[in-house]
Amino acid sequence: MPDDSPLIQSLRTAVAAAPADVPLRLHLAELLLDAGRSEAAVAEAAVALQHAPGDAQARDLMARAMGMPTSPQTQQPQQPPQTPPAQQQPRPRPGFDWKAAEKQVGDVVPPRFVEAPLRSDGQDDPGDADAWDVEGPGTVRLADVGGMQEVKDRLEAAFLAPLRNPELRKLYGKSLRGGLLLYGPPGCGKTFIARAVAGELGAAFLSVSVNDVLDMWMGNSERNMHEVFETARRQAPCVVFLDELDALGAKRSRSAHSGMRNTVNQLLTELDGIDSAANEGVFVLAATNVPWDVDLALRRPGRLDRTILVLPPDAAAREAILRYHLRDRPIENVDLGKLVKATDGMSGADLAHVCEAAAERALLDSARTGTVRMIGMKDLLAAAKEVVPSAEPWFASARNVAMFANEGGMYDDLVAYLKKRRKL
Ligand SMILES: Nc1ncnc2c1ncn2[C@@H]1O[C@H](COP(=O)(O)OP(=O)(O)O)[C@@H](O)[C@H]1O
Ligand SMILES: [Mg+2]
Repeated sequence: MPDDSPLIQSLRTAVAAAPADVPLRLHLAELLLDAGRSEAAVAEAAVALQHAPGDAQARDLMARAMGMPTSPQTQQPQQPPQTPPAQQQPRPRPGFDWKAAEKQVGDVVPPRFVEAPLRSDGQDDPGDADAWDVEGPGTVRLADVGGMQEVKDRLEAAFLAPLRNPELRKLYGKSLRGGLLLYGPPGCGKTFIARAVAGELGAAFLSVSVNDVLDMWMGNSERNMHEVFETARRQAPCVVFLDELDALGAKRSRSAHSGMRNTVNQLLTELDGIDSAANEGVFVLAATNVPWDVDLALRRPGRLDRTILVLPPDAAAREAILRYHLRDRPIENVDLGKLVKATDGMSGADLAHVCEAAAERALLDSARTGTVRMIGMKDLLAAAKEVVPSAEPWFASARNVAMFANEGGMYDDLVAYLKKRRKL
């Protein structure tokens, strides 16, 4: 190759003369990798692995050349690292250098999906990183949320329609105070939906983890809470999204922390002032996986009095999510309908994990055989079999609450779902 350094050139000659010399080839691969030529490094590592399939050094090099974490994660899916997209670098996608792979397979790449994928900003959970960072009005809309029609209908009726319609607002007056609490198992779209609501309102999005507001050592929690709302007022129209609202719950061990009560009170003050002129254009959404730990005072009328249960994605939602996570991967002949059926009960995070695990299977296989191949149904179905729906433990606790603590019908939606699913 003309752009090879002299060292690489002579190593290539040496490797050509001794093709079965694994350390020599790995040395070459290492240099190629250092030179940023991961595609060529992959090719050399693949040949080395053919000669010495179990060689740890060769495997490690392959993994590095493909940009994989060196010990592939096969455990339960984690939520993606939570950083606000505003300052997010294009996140290095863990995984195989599929671009290089696709080049290698050349023209024989079969057709992918026909329809457009989800919006590129429809996926990330900005979560809690830098607490009071505001995202400008985003482009995610409810239409980007796949399926979940009931949730959308309720959002529309309980929140969006009255806000959009000034006449309705006048008609209902004060009853429009307060905010909306999203609850349900982890990884099922609460944050995503909150962001879509902000998009629908053309509002900025201030996502705050309540855990970040709580400042155990300095006793700053109360002020932090006030600052969150001050920031929102300055950026109005703005959706304040209070994630992990349960962290303020009186039932948590942290409630021993003396600032807790003051912080709850501060939040109550902010919520109660939400219809005052100063708060024009500030909307409050909150989310929790454990609504039964949420301080009851926060749920009184005029506060976070409207609740919406966000369940594991239905078939249409799973299709949207799978499509999204497969959009940039080299797949072939993927029968989404079948995959949707095989992933019933999985959360959005689980589905992301299925796609990741399937890619990993195809990658390891490619490494083993030295021939790059596409991700197929077999990989995806095998991955789907291995992933245990992460919402299961949640439903175990939810079941108890639905049975013994459904005071005032607060969890009627949950009861209905559990019954439908024969979990109750
Ligand atoms: N209905 C849906 N349509 C498209 N993507 C979804 C849907 N539900 C969840 N997701 C995706 O699943 C992942 C987890 O959702 P997230 O909102 O972080 O869950 P939660 O806040 O409930 O823990 C995100 O990447 C999200 O974009
Ligand atoms: Mg979330």
